[in-house]
Amino acid sequence: MRDAGGIGLRCAGVVHLYRTFEGHDVVALQGVDLEIQPGERVAFLGPSGSGKSTLLALLGGIQRPSAGRIYLGDDDISRMSERHLARLRARRVATMLQGATRNLLPYTTARRNIGFSRIGVPSAELDDAPTAMELLERVGLADQADQVVSTMSGGQRQRLALACAVATQPQVLLADEPTSQLSHLDRDAVVRLLHDLNRDFGTTIVVVTHQPEVAATFPRTVTMKGGRVGSEGRDGAEYAVIGAEGVLHLPSHLTPQWPPGTLVRIEAGPRRIVISHPADDTGIPQEDVR
Ligand SMILES: Nc1ncnc2c1ncn2[C@@H]1O[C@H](COP(=O)(O)OP(=O)(O)OP(=O)(O)O)[C@@H](O)[C@H]1O
Ligand SMILES: [Mg+2]
Repeated sequence: MRDAGGIGLRCAGVVHLYRTFEGHDVVALQGVDLEIQPGERVAFLGPSGSGKSTLLALLGGIQRPSAGRIYLGDDDISRMSERHLARLRARRVATMLQGATRNLLPYTTARRNIGFSRIGVPSAELDDAPTAMELLERVGLADQADQVVSTMSGGQRQRLALACAVATQPQVLLADEPTSQLSHLDRDAVVRLLHDLNRDFGTTIVVVTHQPEVAATFPRTVTMKGGRVGSEGRDGAEYAVIGAEGVLHLPSHLTPQWPPGTLVRIEAGPRRIVISHPADDTGIPQEDVR
């Protein structure tokens, strides 16, 4: 029997740099502090290049952060040996990378892809796991079981990649844009599958999405901005998040009036902070400074 239920994740001061061919460093993440509870369902949002995929790959133990720590439950995966990480990826954390085909073996069949994804799981642990055929049925690919992946459509590959990711019955499922190529009908079915997995097994689910309809089904959203957590949504309400060293992102609709480099005055009361343009200083009503 496998451990039932999900597991939590925590990032502390996570920084990630990529070195380009020309030898330049690109800062993809610049200080991410984030905690995800066991069994939580979270959607990562944010503009292209804001670091969503990088953060997901770090949480999945596919890349190591340049600095900072990442914990899966109590285990620090940023310092784990490669052997332990491989075991963890095979059995506890499943990551579906952006672009379905990167997760699949293109020259073999759907059914065999599911078999390969479970290669690192001892067969005794799979006794009560769904069969390859049951998984394919769940994602609407029963008729494609013996079809070779390279002949499948983008949407079919995306659904197969998800079936492969859940085949190991992971405690954490990380999925990078799992519905970007699906029709509305297929998208809704896949989103339902993700939530069912959470309900039935307590699996912790993190998805990256650009689709508001998908994000709206998640109780928590984390919006990335410039390599940091910019804001969070909880049960429909939106909050700004104070980052490392007190950094705070302005909501994006305010940035045109408050461009980078603007000097502001900050006055703090016990439960309120007022940010004002020096030119407006005299205009702050006293009752607003609490
Ligand atoms: N392998 C790489 N080499 C160099 N730079 C990279 C690499 N991968 C990502 N980057 C850069 O890191 C930053 C963050 O990229 P990331 O892919 O995490 O963003 P994203 O939020 O997932 O974007 P998208 O919504 O387009 O998928 C970007 O500036 C990107 O160009
Ligand atoms: Mg991405």
